[in-house]
Amino acid sequence: MPGIRGPSEYSQEPPRHPSLKVNAKEPFNAEPPRSALVSSYVTPVDLFYKRNHGPIPIVDHLQSYSVTLTGLIQNPTKLFIKDIRSLPKYNVTATLQCAGNRRTAMSKVRNVRGVGWDVSAIGNAVWGGAKLADVLELVGIPKLTASTYLGGRHVEFVSVDRCKEENGGPYKASIPLSQATNPEADVLLAYEMNGETLNRDHGFPLRVVVPGVIGARSVKWLDSINVIAEESQGFFMQKDYKMFPPSVNWDNINWSSRRPQMDFPVQSAICSVEDVQMVKPGKVSIKGYAVSGGGRGIERVDISLDGGKNWVEASRTQKPGKHYISEHNSSDKWAWVLFEATIDVSETTEVIAKAVDSAANVQPENVESVWNLRGVLNTSWHRVLLRLGHSNL
Ligand code: MTE
Repeated sequence: MPGIRGPSEYSQEPPRHPSLKVNAKEPFNAEPPRSALVSSYVTPVDLFYKRNHGPIPIVDHLQSYSVTLTGLIQNPTKLFIKDIRSLPKYNVTATLQCAGNRRTAMSKVRNVRGVGWDVSAIGNAVWGGAKLADVLELVGIPKLTASTYLGGRHVEFVSVDRCKEENGGPYKASIPLSQATNPEADVLLAYEMNGETLNRDHGFPLRVVVPGVIGARSVKWLDSINVIAEESQGFFMQKDYKMFPPSVNWDNINWSSRRPQMDFPVQSAICSVEDVQMVKPGKVSIKGYAVSGGGRGIERVDISLDGGKNWVEASRTQKPGKHYISEHNSSDKWAWVLFEATIDVSETTEVIAKAVDSAANVQPENVESVWNLRGVLNTSWHRVLLRLGHSNL
């Protein structure tokens, strides 16, 4: 692709914040410290988790960079960055969460394959860009279309980066055409993150953001958009990021028996304290995030100190100091909610958080019931052990 290239080695990776080292390895997967997540509603770009399956592409000439729109459409075309920028710009506050967030807790039950993320493979950003629905209109696909005249029902995003899982080919994913052409779904071709030009780690010069859906579908370093009849046959749609039952193992797995995961389920995690942290007797502030997929709001976050027998409700905010109301027009529907509760600790205590979304979906109690061999979608109650002792808290 003119103007941008996906190198096959890691000699030209961008600089990163020194605290992003928890799981740092190549390909670069970096998790910020959990306390960084609750210090602001919008996650600073340099502290936002980074999940890259291959080396970061290099842009040589932004002017010659273009996205090809092709497939089952009548007028295949090429769009340059200036064409995308000339469309109406939208700012969408949306949480991006890797399907593997909280995998380490799943691997404690039984071994799983995948990057060992704790609770911070998630972040909330203001993404700026054009709506995919407007871009698709440029090639003759009207809003709210489920199928094109030529039989296209899915929109595939193909990237510039090269991944070993694709045998050196590009990263790919797709979403249904009905979602891509629905302006209310807020799917973006984003060129900004938190008001700044998107940086290389997060997909410069252009990435897809699919709000409410696992991060794997938000393809970075966009190369082409293909309108296709079936969902993308890419590795990350067909051989990864699917949820299997606990009975499936590497000997009996049949990848084609399951659909690619799209919406993420209701999730919450405590971030103000670590698991197995020493605290002094007295008041401890329990803060964290809660989020659900598909644009569903967070109805409640409950905290228990006695293994789930009794619960107290945490307060919820998005904008500082303003009570959050689920599904209200003052709320950001694609964004996480920060919660807080003050507890009194007089003995060693396990603190549990569980969220309930606007469809009354509740996090499952035990990680065992959602265990799967790839360690995805661990949304079980989040538990943190506070030990009584000497601490600065
Ligand atoms: N897009 C490309 N081209 N290559 C990738 O490796 N990783 C995906 C997605 N898009 C990926 C990609 C995954 S698994 C996740 S969770 C998100 O990007 C992470 O986005 P971030 O690095 O901006 O946080």
